[in-house]
Amino acid sequence: MSSATLLPIDWTGEKPPKFDPSRVPNHVGLVMDGNGRWANLRGLPRVEGHIAGEDALLDVVAGALQIGIPNLSVFAFSTENWNRSAEEVRFLMGFNRQVLRRRRDQLKSWGVKILWAGREPRLWKSVINELQQAERLTSRNHKMNLYMCVNYGGRAEIVEAVRKVARQVADGSIDPHRITEKSFAKNLNSPSMPSVDLFIRTSGEK
Ligand code: FPP
Repeated sequence: MSSATLLPIDWTGEKPPKFDPSRVPNHVGLVMDGNGRWANLRGLPRVEGHIAGEDALLDVVAGALQIGIPNLSVFAFSTENWNRSAEEVRFLMGFNRQVLRRRRDQLKSWGVKILWAGREPRLWKSVINELQQAERLTSRNHKMNLYMCVNYGGRAEIVEAVRKVARQVADGSIDPHRITEKSFAKNLNSPSMPSVDLFIRTSGEK
């Protein structure tokens, strides 16, 4: 995407509602589910729901920037998503890669810092490369941290961190009595990621 085609932050023409700045959440987590159901309701293949989700995501990021949300996490592919059909997994891998490539300049121009949250095992190398490239491209931005959760699973993250801590205990490098919330958090995938204050499922499920 060349700079000539970059969209302004108010590209939808919609204005975000007025918020008391003291009530703006520090970190919003967004599970982009309901895509398949959205498509089914319209008699379309499931993948059309994901495709429509790309513009919806850009709209949400623009709105979050206008409101002044400092941290936004979007769940693009969870570790549970490997259980989908091979065809859908293949589509989602390619789609994640394309979305990153298509939107990284746009996000950079809005001052967004892209950060990958997730694990490497099984994830397509080309998707990892795209994530790392988007991280490098936007590393100097400070308006918002956008955590792209790709091959992320909350439980998988905890299990992996427990494994690392257990290894350190076994080799004697840490004393189990000295493990604290803070020292444990250092072993998570994204130790600097703040706790989520508001968690939204776009399908409307609670
Ligand atoms: C879940 O809907 C949605 C996904 C697994 C993919 C969403 C991904 C995007 C919109 C692309 C974003 C890309 C990046 C890099 C952030 P679902 O299939 O679970 O729908 P359902 O709940 O109706 O079954």
